[in-house]
Amino acid sequence: MRPLHRAEDPEGWRAEVESNRSVVTQVDDGATERGKWPTSSSSAPHIMALMLDQLDLRSGMCVLEIGTGTGYNAALLAELTGAENVTTVEVDVSLADHAKGALDSAGYPVTVVTGDGMKGYRHNAPYDRIIATAAVRELPYAWVEQTRPGGLILAPWVATFHPDEPLAKLTVTADGRAEGRFGAPAWFMPMRSHRLQQETIRDTDERWAASGKPEASRYGITVTPEGQRIWLDTPDNPIG
Ligand SMILES: C[S@@+](CC[C@H](N)C(=O)[O-])C[C@H]1O[C@@H](n2cnc3c(N)ncnc32)[C@H](O)[C@@H]1O
Repeated sequence: MRPLHRAEDPEGWRAEVESNRSVVTQVDDGATERGKWPTSSSSAPHIMALMLDQLDLRSGMCVLEIGTGTGYNAALLAELTGAENVTTVEVDVSLADHAKGALDSAGYPVTVVTGDGMKGYRHNAPYDRIIATAAVRELPYAWVEQTRPGGLILAPWVATFHPDEPLAKLTVTADGRAEGRFGAPAWFMPMRSHRLQQETIRDTDERWAASGKPEASRYGITVTPEGQRIWLDTPDNPIG
């Protein structure tokens, strides 16, 4: 990583912004070792496109995004569904304020909420779609409760069963469960508080190798009020 200042290197800045890579926009939220962890970014455009495609959005759908960051993806959501239908939650006050200003001035007056997105945002529920743009280890039941039956939840995963960080895509059922499968890797930074220790990453690799290195798409997940269950191939085959 190398620092880049818009005022000092406007061309380098523009090239980075227009690239197909993710752009780190914050390296320290004050709670981590200074400069060690990227704590916010604008996601890689090809990953944003992949996730928007998976969400199968239509105009008028009510959407909750967790992890506002720069606000770029919230603007894309607003373009597809209407700004009045988009709520986005960011845990970092300064990022949320900055994104709100940028979104308003770009003509996308979405609702930006400062808070812990793991709780969702009950006030504007129910949602047709929930998209997380930071990776989770556990899917909060609040997201299931706040999604309409038949609605979708899409979240990058801090997996302890596969070395990639696959995207989980779940459908919410009328009886209050969410179920779905894992797919393509997305490599998002984890939600604050969902980071894995090096030891856990090593254990994950070993366990996955010992179980014959199954493709990520063979894994699935069921979430109920009692918690989440990761399974291999079918819901009746939970992994330990
Ligand atoms: C990869 S960035 C999001 C990219 C963003 N969607 C964009 O278009 O620029 C992840 C964001 O999630 C935020 N975040 C991390 N934990 C969070 C939490 N518990 N609740 C809400 N936001 C969180 C981080 O502060 C960071 O801004």
